[in-house]
Amino acid sequence: MIPVTRPTTDAATRARVQKVIASGWWGYGPLCQELEARFTQRGGWALALQSCTASLWIAASLLRETGRTEAIIPAITYAGCAAALRTAGWTLRFADVDPVTGLIDLGAAKRLISPETGLLLIVDIYGQQAQATQARSLCDSLGIALVQDMAHRIDLWDDQPSLADFACYSFGPTKEAPSPEGGLVWSRHPQSEARARSLSLVGLDLDTWRRTRVHRHLPVQLDPRLGLKLRQNDVAAAFVLGGLERVLEQRHRRHAAYRRYRLAEAGTGLRLPQRHADDSYLMPFALIEADRRACLRDALARAGIGTSDHYPSLAEALDSADPCPNASLFAAEVFTLPAPPRISRLQADVVLAQLQQAGR
Ligand SMILES: Cc1ncc(COP(=O)(O)O)c(C=O)c1O
Repeated sequence: MIPVTRPTTDAATRARVQKVIASGWWGYGPLCQELEARFTQRGGWALALQSCTASLWIAASLLRETGRTEAIIPAITYAGCAAALRTAGWTLRFADVDPVTGLIDLGAAKRLISPETGLLLIVDIYGQQAQATQARSLCDSLGIALVQDMAHRIDLWDDQPSLADFACYSFGPTKEAPSPEGGLVWSRHPQSEARARSLSLVGLDLDTWRRTRVHRHLPVQLDPRLGLKLRQNDVAAAFVLGGLERVLEQRHRRHAAYRRYRLAEAGTGLRLPQRHADDSYLMPFALIEADRRACLRDALARAGIGTSDHYPSLAEALDSADPCPNASLFAAEVFTLPAPPRISRLQADVVLAQLQQAGR
């Protein structure tokens, strides 16, 4: 069986996790802080959280406090994006996507903007880099905040940090730096850090680690607006810190596999878009006419090859009146191909051969 993905660790990561377990401190503490420091080397602040959904909720909650009520999000993304923003009090508008990449169509997003628009979410969907430069200038011209969902692509190796006001990361088991569950929010705005920290700790200003180890005698303040308990823990942070060491090597393997998969386009009706150097290749996908997809995936499953389809159009699933025809088509045609972190050339060639056979 060649799985669509599968979390792995290495000996160094397991040793790091063991060390945390033996230390007697498993909660939010020094390892989470080390993880945060890894993301602030290029500036800004970072907060380690239980998930990307939690980090989206923190960003959305902070931005909702500025007063505007409407958020624009791409119709193709994980349902957690919609859940986090709506729970933070935003009314959702759905922008259609590019029919080939599934990335947000910024022209469609622009048409949804009203005086109430306060937030635009762009998503590095399937590991492709979203159009941050164009989104940034659109937001700047209208005083809208930009949030970037980087669940599928960690940008620590890009030339510059995210151009967004907030960037949200996932360290879930299928992501680039996997852990049992995990996430992180990063922001360039120093004034929002204290509120983000208290929002992620029910409203308290001092976490248990700092209270017991550093500030034994300080009174703890409670923000009357309260919050939720959303902090990452040090055991999961140890997995993530180990995982970050392996990201570039895994990208290289996944990219090599994708180059093989693209050869299946000839004579099959499969479409595998050209992807870019800064892509994570975390979730390589193919498109096929909607009425052929199930049959093709069944044939691949019989040959021991895992595939997955992921996101319905959120505009459709949530009954929005915003027109998103490309998103509906994309959701019906897309499926992801195997990209376990250690995928070999031999495995990629087995997938290629089956795609060529099943796609004929
Ligand atoms: C695009 C996208 N955003 C956000 C999330 C949420 O991540 P988490 O599971 O860490 O909450 C996911 C999860 O798969 C995702 O695919």
